[in-house]
Amino acid sequence: MTEKKPIIFSGIQPSGNLTLGNYVGALKNWVSLQDKYDCLFSLVDLHTITVRQDPKSFRSNCYDALAIYLAVGIDPIRHNVFLQSHVPAHTQLAWILNCYSYMGELSRMTQFKDKSKKNETNINVGLFSYPILMAADILLYGTNLVPVGADQKQHVEIARDLALRFNNIYGQVFAIPEVYHPPLGARLMSLQEPTKKMSKSDDNSSATIFLLDKPEDILNKFKRAVTDSDTEICFDIKNKPGVSNLLTILAVVTDRSVEEWTTQLQGSGYGKLKTATAENLIEFLRPMQKRYYQLRKDQEYLDSVLKQGAARAVDASQEILKKVYDVLGFIPTF
Ligand code: TRP
Repeated sequence: MTEKKPIIFSGIQPSGNLTLGNYVGALKNWVSLQDKYDCLFSLVDLHTITVRQDPKSFRSNCYDALAIYLAVGIDPIRHNVFLQSHVPAHTQLAWILNCYSYMGELSRMTQFKDKSKKNETNINVGLFSYPILMAADILLYGTNLVPVGADQKQHVEIARDLALRFNNIYGQVFAIPEVYHPPLGARLMSLQEPTKKMSKSDDNSSATIFLLDKPEDILNKFKRAVTDSDTEICFDIKNKPGVSNLLTILAVVTDRSVEEWTTQLQGSGYGKLKTATAENLIEFLRPMQKRYYQLRKDQEYLDSVLKQGAARAVDASQEILKKVYDVLGFIPTF
């Protein structure tokens, strides 16, 4: 009998082009987790509509993100790759968890506060209850570990709190998930304001590297990247956030250490650092982009992945959902 592996759940919103930040902060780690864990990697499209989407681009963004998942090396045969909206149990469980969540705890979520500021004309209830749907995503599959960036830690904690609260009343229904911190997690910052996280929704398009950026755009973005007024290349996040960010990118895409690069580039000046980073990144992205464009054309294949993923996730979601309905006293369907 094969031993049961711990379960991992993670997701990314298919809300536009994925960035190098998404790759380094999430996708890269997911790929390396595939050997040791049973993984569910979802495209969390229901979360995406908390901010208005244009239906046509929304649909193509979902396929784009799926093709990226596959192009970076996520294996849809061994693991579960699916669209959240294809599995009704997510919203079913989310409703139930709504009834066990408190206004107070949700009002404290930093992401809610940030997003409310950004979307002043559309502070909808979905934005507020976003962490509950995320908790449902996680708890539905008996997830043990949730690999997410620091900005999502608070949401995983809510999922834990809800699971513990529910289990306290009704017995062992949910596994208690934990945040998974990748051993070498790097957080990429904006190229224009390096004290801010690299984000796909930045108003300044020079601030962000998208995984599908063309070589010439990458070169230009790095040429324009903010560094600082002196010339010394060293890693110092506090005093040299821009230079440190470039060194981080360089190290990640070449699989070498920041120290090695700092030594190699000693005395070269920022111009050299920028072109070295751009050139290495371009080479790093090239094979992935090639696979992406091949996959993206193959609509039939992409649909078959979604179909299989949905069937498996629907199946996997039933056990815990049924248990929840049962302990709450709902009459089972006939
Ligand atoms: N909220 C996450 C983000 O914006 C995406 C997400 C939704 C997620 N459900 C999840 C991540 C469940 C991990 C597990 O990054």
